[in-house]
Parts: sequence; structure tokens; C-alpha cells
Amino acid sequence: CCPTMSLDVQVSKAFLQEVQVKEINAVLLTKGMSDNWESIWNFQAKPNDLLIASYPKSGTTWTQEIVDMIQNDGDVRKCQRAYTYVRQPHLEWKPWLLSTPGLEEAEKMPSPRTMKTHLPVQLLPPSFWKENTKIIYVARNAKDVAVSYYHLSRAMSVLPRPGTLDEFIDKFMNGRVLWGSWYDHVKGWWNKKDKHPILYLFYEDMKENPKQEIQKILKFLEKDLSEEIINKIIYHTSFDIMKQNPMAGYDTIHINIIDHSISSFMRKGITGDWKNHFTVSQSEKFDEHYKKKMAGTTLTFRSEI
Ligand code: A3P
Repeated sequence: CCPTMSLDVQVSKAFLQEVQVKEINAVLLTKGMSDNWESIWNFQAKPNDLLIASYPKSGTTWTQEIVDMIQNDGDVRKCQRAYTYVRQPHLEWKPWLLSTPGLEEAEKMPSPRTMKTHLPVQLLPPSFWKENTKIIYVARNAKDVAVSYYHLSRAMSVLPRPGTLDEFIDKFMNGRVLWGSWYDHVKGWWNKKDKHPILYLFYEDMKENPKQEIQKILKFLEKDLSEEIINKIIYHTSFDIMKQNPMAGYDTIHINIIDHSISSFMRKGITGDWKNHFTVSQSEKFDEHYKKKMAGTTLTFRSEI
């Protein structure tokens, strides 16, 4: 960009440009993702890969850090070898500052690889099913996801502009946000979990009892760690400590990508923040719609959060 332009002007320019979106099977993706769709769909998974899947803003980065700590036996320095998005490439996304999309990064990585995706289950590259690759899915309360997604969309220039919270809630309910409908996403992955090695976790359980959830991951990965290492992992992946770690999360990302004065990536890290955002009428409307969308599924989220 123009060297005489002040940073402020560059920032506002980045935020004024609406992100181009395109649908793949009625799911909104960025134009970059859909233009690269053939390569994404044909991505070759391996049996010893591990995939961390989620709807955006559900605790993906947190789960990624826990998994990396487990894989590195609680060695913090090894986990600080690179940024999250370099250690565990995001398959369908081209990360900021890197010149190649996540899937190309993944292709260059030695095995065993750990990768991330936000793709809904029906858009996952078929090789993951064929190779029986293990997948850890993490889900979070819909209203908290909506609030977190709204704030990140305000702050992150590479996401479509969210409008007001009211407008964003409406888009969220109608699945008109990147990676599509939250309802279809959480249900789709839930329905797949008995037919494929998928560990389905909840953000709220991780908050309430991280030790128990880490033990579930250990069992799933067929790994054993001492009590001392597990406690170390809990400490280093707690919100406050992760927020101070420049290699975990995205708080060191350039201001042109995330304007941290608007909102941080590591924002609050709590359950129930929706209560500070939703009005009574927004909440009632959301709940009514929620009941219809979630009718008939065995998937339940804690009501008391
Ligand atoms: P909030 O915006 O509600 O604070 P994702 O990684 O899927 O994009 O999810 C981001 C959300 O997870 C953000 O939620 C972020 O603060 C929260 N988060 C990240 N690390 C966390 C941690 N160690 N403990 C609890 N929440 C965490």
C-alpha cells in the first residue's frame, strides 16, 4: 500500500471494504475459499492426522492449544515454536501473513499432522471419512457464539461487516454468516459422531471441569500423562495465561486484520456473556426459533449457563 498513507487511513480502508462471499452448497464462505474449493474438497487426509473441527467462536483455539500441549507432553516452549495457525493449519482458510492457504501448509507438514476446520460436516473433504481420521469437535452455547462472532466480526476486517447486534443475530439465526448455520453445524457433526471416530466436546464442560475434558482427549488420543503434566496443561491453557502467550490466539495479529481497540480475539472467555448483550425480546425470539431448529435432536446444551 501507499507509503505516504497513515496507518489510520489504511485501517479504515481495510474495514470499509466488504468481504466478498460466495456459497458452496448454500453455505456462505469467503470468495477466496470458494475459488479454492476444488483443492479443498480434494484434500488428502491421512489415517494418523488429527482434525479439530468447530463452528467459529466455539473454543477452537483453546482446544488447539490443549491438544498441542498434550502432543508435546506439556512442554510450553515447544508449543511456542510458532503461531497457532502455523502449528495447526486451518484447512480452508488462507491465514493472514502467510502466502499460502492452510491446506497447502498442511500438505508440506510432516506426519502426524493436526489441522483445524470450521467446515460443516457435509463439506468436509471426503478423504477424512475414507481414512477414518480422528476428529475432535467442540461446540458452544449458540447465544455465546453469536455474541463472540459479532464482536470478532466488528474487529476483524477479513470477516463480513456484522451490522448492529440485532442485525447480526438475525443473520446468525438464518445462517447468513460465514460457515453457515450454527444449528446445522452442531447437529450435523453430532449425527456423524457414532459412525466415525469423533470426540464431541462442549466449551461449557471445558470451563467447568478442564481436567475431565483433558482426560477425555487423552483417552481419545490413546495417550497417558501424569497428573502433574495435566495440571500444567490446565494452567497454561487457562484464559488469562493463554491471553498473555503471543503464540496462542490471535492478539498479535496486525491491526489491519484485527483492530484490537474494537475487540480482542481473546475477548472474555466466559460462559453466559450473552446475558450482557441480548435484550429480553431478542432472547425470547431467539429461544423460540432455537426450539424449532433443534427439535428432534438428541443434542442438548446446558440450559443453566
Ligand atoms: P469470547 O469472544 O466469548 O471471549 P474460537 O477459537 O473458536 O474462535 O473461539 C474464540 C472464543 O474462545 C473467544 O470467546 C475466546 O475468548 C475464547 N477462548 C479462547 N481461549 C480460551 C481459553 N483458554 N479459555 C476460555 N475461553 C477461551
